[in-house]
Amino acid sequence: MSAVMSAKERQERAARREPLSPRLPHIIHGADYFPEQWIDSPEILEEDMRLMKRAGFNAVSVGMFAWSALEPEEGRYTFEWLDALMDRAARAGIFVLLATPSGARPAWMSRAYPEVLRVSPERRRNLHGLRHNHCYTSPVYRQKTAAVNRLIAERYGGHPALLMWHVSNEYGGECHCELCQRAFREWLKRRYDSSLDALNRSWWSAFWSHTITEWEQIESPAPHGESRLQGLLLDWKRFVTDQTVDFMLCEIAPLRELAPRVPVTTNMMGTYPGLNYWKFAPHLDVASWTSYPAWHGTGEVFDARSPWDPKGRDWRTAADTAFAHNLMRSLKGGKPFMLMESAPTFSSWHAVWKLKKPGMQAASSLLAVAHGSDTVQYFQWRKSRGGTEKFHGAVLDHAGLEATRVFAEVAGLGRMLAALDGVVGTRVPARAAIIYDWENRWALEGADVVPAQGDGSYEWACKRHHSPFWSVGVAVDVIDMEQDFSPYRLVVAPMLYMIRPGVWERLERFVHAGGTLVATYWSGTTDEHDLCFAGGSPGPLRKLLGLRSEEIDGLYPRESNRMVPEARNGLGLSGSYEIRRYCELIHPESACVFATYGGDFYKGTPALTVNEFGDGAAYYLAADADERFLLDFYAALARRLDLHGAIPARLPQGVCAQLRTDGTTEFLFLLNFARERQRVRLGKGLLVDVLSGGSRSGAISLEPFGVAVLKRKVASL
Ligand code: GLA
Ligand code: ZN
Repeated sequence: MSAVMSAKERQERAARREPLSPRLPHIIHGADYFPEQWIDSPEILEEDMRLMKRAGFNAVSVGMFAWSALEPEEGRYTFEWLDALMDRAARAGIFVLLATPSGARPAWMSRAYPEVLRVSPERRRNLHGLRHNHCYTSPVYRQKTAAVNRLIAERYGGHPALLMWHVSNEYGGECHCELCQRAFREWLKRRYDSSLDALNRSWWSAFWSHTITEWEQIESPAPHGESRLQGLLLDWKRFVTDQTVDFMLCEIAPLRELAPRVPVTTNMMGTYPGLNYWKFAPHLDVASWTSYPAWHGTGEVFDARSPWDPKGRDWRTAADTAFAHNLMRSLKGGKPFMLMESAPTFSSWHAVWKLKKPGMQAASSLLAVAHGSDTVQYFQWRKSRGGTEKFHGAVLDHAGLEATRVFAEVAGLGRMLAALDGVVGTRVPARAAIIYDWENRWALEGADVVPAQGDGSYEWACKRHHSPFWSVGVAVDVIDMEQDFSPYRLVVAPMLYMIRPGVWERLERFVHAGGTLVATYWSGTTDEHDLCFAGGSPGPLRKLLGLRSEEIDGLYPRESNRMVPEARNGLGLSGSYEIRRYCELIHPESACVFATYGGDFYKGTPALTVNEFGDGAAYYLAADADERFLLDFYAALARRLDLHGAIPARLPQGVCAQLRTDGTTEFLFLLNFARERQRVRLGKGLLVDVLSGGSRSGAISLEPFGVAVLKRKVASL
């Protein structure tokens, strides 16, 4: 296991062991809990605490949508039920992650102050209803939110049950009201130094006569208005992120002022396209997210691209979910994150209500822990009797009984988590990173054209390049193009279409100092305004990649080409690999050719190159080659760069192997996402089986969806 980690690296990691809160040195196990729905049933609220203890809970999230229960009329506050809940939780030894209520608001506010209602891209003001529908610019909404948050912070900031602030709920969406339009124009003035000339140049507005001559002419994107001016689309998305962050800061201010030692988080949504979470991260103490994969899918409904797989496709779902876990961990520089929500069975909004098969509850939850989560939390504790999510999976069904399959699985997991105190605060030792960059995604999506038919989306490409590492147990961070590349030996940048200022210089420095970069087709095409680089692609990456790109041939879904490795390619690639969707035609300048196209008029021209640059190397994969190629290619690079998997032996397909370490002890998570029993060879040495207390050596058998957590001292290596 990670034998290459130096003593210095170990020390650094040990020194950075960070639990989410010193007050709870255990893995958090809990759920979203809505006592305001049961105010008239005190016996249920009492029973909840008893059953939570039976489920092995140590924390609950409360208050996410409780504004009406806290302020039923403007200025009249009714905190008594929450006082009682906090006291009851403290007595029961259950901590509370207390939410601010801005995710949904009382009807009186919408009626008294219509400006709080969100306006759609069609410029239609919403009526009151639903949730997550406020205007984040509205001074009234900001003031009302800050006021109720201040009262919450005053009242509960020092309460013994309080563990953490949970700000709002899943920030998202956008508002197109006049207040937001004005704020957008002010934001643009700041961005372009009040110069319309600069703005027009950046937006290339001479195209289709889009030149702006007065700031007031600028409108947010709309389906019946501007929807094709990429510079505007990009700036609008940047503004939406900034304005949402600004709103969040107004929420956080009273919490920090009155309870400065209580950590703050907000629940994010993984790769959610609408917000750039890297802008949120510096303002949060902990990253957390809500994860609802469609386990046990067959590929027909959710992902028609994936072929039928006899081992089931859960391991693909697990790999894709792990991508988001890796992203959430990376947002705070590797510090443990929180699995703030997950479904104990199914999500009622999934196309098919698929029950989690026996064992999956533990496997899917430990997947998060294996990748750096220090919590396993659910939506939700008890099914509501009414409301749109009354059928959504919960720990307690409508009958409220503990004698259920789901409760037993949750309680069983609670016992497992209680054995994992040693894991708390440990880190995932990643020496490889994949770039998933929101602005790059916006630019690619805003381009509104793709060279090829069928799904070749950016997010999909990033997950595809992540999966080969996950399959062999090599840890990967998921970062954006602004992050420091120096901690890594390998940086993979799929479809790095946009290159913002400073990025190519940092990539050059990284490779020059010995790093390895992998870039792919459709890279280095536009700048931060989505303006194509004069001089063509790959723009400023040309020297580093040692090539020039001329054209991209798009392939129809039934078309394919072949990639043929050169005889002595140094990576051990042989035979030929299938290519779909993208074939980029490139001209090496200083790069060497490792593989060529096998067909079409460009047969024999380069499809894979490498450019030695300083002490490192930059690979260019000009075509969208198949999964087998990615497995072979990255396995070869991992060998070359000493990127060790979590165990030395070859992993059976479908088994996840990930390590967490504090520098002296290593925890090895083995999770079987296949529908059949699998045997994993462990290599030499004795490992402690953390869940059973016994010891293991040689090999271990994992049942379908079976799990094991093993540990050993790093020094024993
Ligand atoms: C999201 C929300 C929850 C709930 C769940 C389940 O993650 O944060 O309030 O709606 O989805 O659908
Ligand atoms: Zn608005």
